[in-house]
Amino acid sequence: MTAIRIAIFASGAGSNAQKIIDHFRSGEIATVALILASKAGAGILDIASKENIPALILEKDRFFRGDGYVEELKKRDIGFIVLAGFLWKIPVNLIRAYPGRMVNIHPALLPKYGGKGMYGAHVHEAVIAAGEKESGISIHYVDELYDHGEIIFQARCAVTESDTASSLAEKIHQLEHAHFPKVIESLLTDQNIVKRSAGKA
Ligand code: GRF
Repeated sequence: MTAIRIAIFASGAGSNAQKIIDHFRSGEIATVALILASKAGAGILDIASKENIPALILEKDRFFRGDGYVEELKKRDIGFIVLAGFLWKIPVNLIRAYPGRMVNIHPALLPKYGGKGMYGAHVHEAVIAAGEKESGISIHYVDELYDHGEIIFQARCAVTESDTASSLAEKIHQLEHAHFPKVIESLLTDQNIVKRSAGKA
């Protein structure tokens, strides 16, 4: 079995990326082979350097108006893409290059509280302002709209009277860390993505 090579796109601290790197550290099923960051100085780049994982800082023009980095990803034999706190919309040519092989995590129960502008604290503030009694995480395939592709997995947590955006963010991060790596693993194994890529050789 050839391990699948994962690329992680991230814009922020990269705590989810770290959990995914840890989860696949043995390299049997998959390996995190490339990190792509939307800005210099993002915490994710420190993780990449500490973990010795090649990293690229995306150039906006090339990403949106060029080839969407498809050539770069193919050249490095990337077979699966994970968006973990990545704030840019994915261009169509990149989505089409990875059908059923690109997932995102969103810190709320989609289809509510998703879409443009719904990221980070904005999401949790909106959930609290609406008086929701629960929130959670959604892992979904990526399509051409923000936070819109088919939902693969959700997990829930309570929103209490005393919750603030930051206490809720903390609960959500715990759910993300507990579930995201395992859901990626089951996608790679249950859908035979690993075997298909092994069969390629
Ligand atoms: C996560 O809450 C994720 O759901 C959202 O951005 C956050 C990224 O956190 N899309 P981190 O950079 O992985 O710590």
